[in-house]
Amino acid sequence: MSSDKSVTQLKSKCPVAIDLQGSNLPYRLEVEVADLMILGTVPPEIDGTFYRVMTDPFVPPHPNNIPLDGDGNISALRFRDGRVDFKMRYVETERFKIERNAGKAVFGLNRNPFTHHPCVRAAVDSTPIPTLSWDQVETFTAHPKIDSFTKELVVYGYEAKGLASTDIVIYPLDRHGQKKDEQWIKSPWCAPIHDYIERMKKGGHHWAWNYDRSATFIVAPRRKRTKLPAGWKEGEFRVYHDQNEMLIHTAGAWESDDGSKPWLETTRVHENAFPFFPADSRRQPAPDATAYLVRFTLNLTQPTDTKVAETKIIPPFPAEFPRLDEHFLSKPYDVAWLNAMTPAEFHDPEPEGEGGVGLVWSDLDGVVQHRYSTGKTEYYYAGRGCGVQEPIFIPRLGDAPEGDGWVMFLVEIKLIDLCELVILFTKPVAIVKLLFHIKAQVHGNWIDQRQFKDRKSLVRQGELETISGRGALETGDI
Ligand SMILES: [Fe+2]
Repeated sequence: MSSDKSVTQLKSKCPVAIDLQGSNLPYRLEVEVADLMILGTVPPEIDGTFYRVMTDPFVPPHPNNIPLDGDGNISALRFRDGRVDFKMRYVETERFKIERNAGKAVFGLNRNPFTHHPCVRAAVDSTPIPTLSWDQVETFTAHPKIDSFTKELVVYGYEAKGLASTDIVIYPLDRHGQKKDEQWIKSPWCAPIHDYIERMKKGGHHWAWNYDRSATFIVAPRRKRTKLPAGWKEGEFRVYHDQNEMLIHTAGAWESDDGSKPWLETTRVHENAFPFFPADSRRQPAPDATAYLVRFTLNLTQPTDTKVAETKIIPPFPAEFPRLDEHFLSKPYDVAWLNAMTPAEFHDPEPEGEGGVGLVWSDLDGVVQHRYSTGKTEYYYAGRGCGVQEPIFIPRLGDAPEGDGWVMFLVEIKLIDLCELVILFTKPVAIVKLLFHIKAQVHGNWIDQRQFKDRKSLVRQGELETISGRGALETGDI
């Protein structure tokens, strides 16, 4: 980097925002690499694809936009016979195509149509919607879960009848993508905000933090025919409240045999973890807004609008992005993997002024395996100046016991602007070198190849129909 101040002070055309600087500049790559360089050995049993999703603005976004917004970009790492191919592409949505053609942002703030450029508003307003009405337009959670026992994708959508509506839809999809047992319930408010319509019309953000609201659990049967807990009426759902706090990512949930007591584990920050969604008063979150994995116990024999029965912090250190052996989702589990801020005793001392406070987006530098039955926690520390991204667990196939397999996650080496993939089997067995930087992952999932009949290469193959007999291929006949 140049030490000339006049150079280092040059600005990019991207607005200065919390997610658009430093090592997190928009990268905008569409790339494929066959057979990535690997240190160590990738176990040949790992056969499938690790899909990662990112938001990477293709054009400089609205200057006040948020880190969660941007153009969708998917990267895939495909594993076969110990080799790994890589491919990365944008999702070519209508917004992506319109803004790519325009060469500038014409969409405004995330989920606020009042801030779009008039050309977008005009296009939307002049487009007839002949077959859909709001009660047919359903939104979709970013975190559907697969129930491995019923082979269903369990889905919900909020604001499901339009912008800022309090309608929630719940339904499972079967393995053919067919929707079953659709149910509609009402949220007590359009969480987690109030005054949303007025704020959006004034050009503000869709969401704002409200220090007066509780974290709220809405409990509803998955299906209309689900056996109800004692005292519940058909069609009923109940609401339970905890303190003002932000719940981010869920590990898992299970329930007692009689269905009266569900347990849910999710990460919790004691207040707003997202400074880009401040309160209307502009009050900023506390600087130590730290996430912990917490178990919530509900008592469904209690009436609606009462308090959560019990809360308990599980591993006693800041952590986020919990993942499980997903073959066991919906049942009690014994092992979880999380991104964590590695405790100081597990790595070398950091220079004065370095080291974070456990912020969910910048200070996670390790992956831990936490085993509930023994209380034992094992740490992988990625190194000074490194950030870890959400882990995934790859089970060994067959009747492997829970937790028998590998853990995989991307590490961002911020000091040299590179990324690499680490594969752990308790200790590292392989590091897959990308040799370039890609934007931080939001989430990822593992798709095992062995459930499919056909294989398809992720990258271009060498196709050769005839041999020319020239150059290095000359016959040698003189
Ligand atoms: Fe998420």
